[in-house]
Formats: sequence, structure tokens, C-alpha cells
Amino acid sequence: MPALTLERLLAGIGFGSRKEARALVRMGVVELNGEVQEDPFVEFKERPATITVNGEEVTTQEKLYVMLHKPLDVECSHNARDHRSVFELLPDRFTAMGIQTVGRLDADSEGLLLLSNQGDFIHKVESPKKGYLKKYRVTLARPFTEEQKAELLGGVMLKGERRPVLAREIAVDGDSVVISIGEGLYHQVRRMFAAVGNHVETLKRDAIGPVLLDETLGKGGWRFLTDDEVASLM
Ligand code: URA
Repeated sequence: MPALTLERLLAGIGFGSRKEARALVRMGVVELNGEVQEDPFVEFKERPATITVNGEEVTTQEKLYVMLHKPLDVECSHNARDHRSVFELLPDRFTAMGIQTVGRLDADSEGLLLLSNQGDFIHKVESPKKGYLKKYRVTLARPFTEEQKAELLGGVMLKGERRPVLAREIAVDGDSVVISIGEGLYHQVRRMFAAVGNHVETLKRDAIGPVLLDETLGKGGWRFLTDDEVASLM
């Protein structure tokens, strides 16, 4: 493996090509341990945990595992058409590092969204076979009946799908209904409630498998997943 130089480190965490990273260092805007470092070829024995670029302290890991509290009216697409893109809520360098959403939430849904640049992680968490339940909290336009609950637990046919989809767990919590599902089909929760004659008014994702939305994150806020959270999903 080639030595980890400052230039390589910066290029690996989204600060452009190696040439661009080199120019950045030579501009004198990169600090290590509080000291400006103008030599792009300085070598590290160990990757430093953080580095300061343009006055901002950034973490240096190349693998990204992020939790975002997705707000309403934001699209899970790099080329958002009708709204802002979720990627605008994250540092630009994450896009350069290849970050993607793990599954999607509709523009009119909010709550827990995971993002990563690690294909195996994305694939594992998205895969319905792996069996991570996704938990959603919804409010409904009409009273939620025992018949509707039984139908959802028994499985409903959605237009365009070959098999019935079912609620794995369902509970009433005050004015909300909390539903867990295994798949991530297009508008799945809204279509499931519509199939039993109700209508979802608001929808928020609370959890994906063992990972819960960190409620200390305001809407639009993000943080890195902890090592334990990543391990719990792998
Ligand atoms: N189901 C929906 O209908 N919308 C979402 O955003 C997620 C699940």
C-alpha cells in the first residue's frame, strides 16, 4: 500500500483529486493538531482522527455511515426535481465520496434516513431478506379499526405487486399508529393503509432494525452512526 500522505488523505475524504488536494495544502488552509501544514507529501503512520480544513474540523474516515433526520419536502435523489435534495443537508465532500441513501423516504415523509458510501452495507440494510423491520409512525385521516388492523397483519395486495405485503407489527400509540414492515416498496405504507380504506396524513420513520432515530437531531440534522450502530446492522 502506498504511504498515506496528506494529499492522499484529503483526496480520499472528498477534497478533490490529489492535485486539487495538493493545491489546497499549499494554500495554507490545512491544519494538523492546530498547526498549518503546507507540505502535501507529509506521511502519516496512523490516520489522524480529525484534520482542519478552512477552519473546519473534519473527521478523516473514508467509510461513511450517517443518520439523517430527514425533514419534509426534501427528496432522496441526487437530481431532485421538485424539492431540495437530502444531499444538500450534508457536507459537499460526502457526495464526492460517493454517499447514497439506504432506501428512500418520500418527499412528504420524515424521520430516520441512513446514508453510506459502502455498497455492502447499503445492500445488507436494504435487502428484505435480511429482515430488518422498518418502523413508521403515521397519523390517519379516519379512525383506525380492528378490522383494518387484522387486514394489515394478514396481508394486503397492492397494485402492481405479485404477493401480498403485511404489517409485521402494528400498535396504536395515542393519536398515532406504529407499523413495522419488512420491505421498502414504493409508497408502501401509504398504499397499505389506502388498501384497507384509510388514508395516511403524516408519516415518520422511527427505526430501521435496531437503529432508532436520534431525537436529539433536529429536522435536517445528521450525525455519524456509532460503531455499535454499524455493527448492529452488519
Ligand atoms: N412508506 C411510504 O409510503 N412512504 C415512505 O416514505 C416510506 C414508506
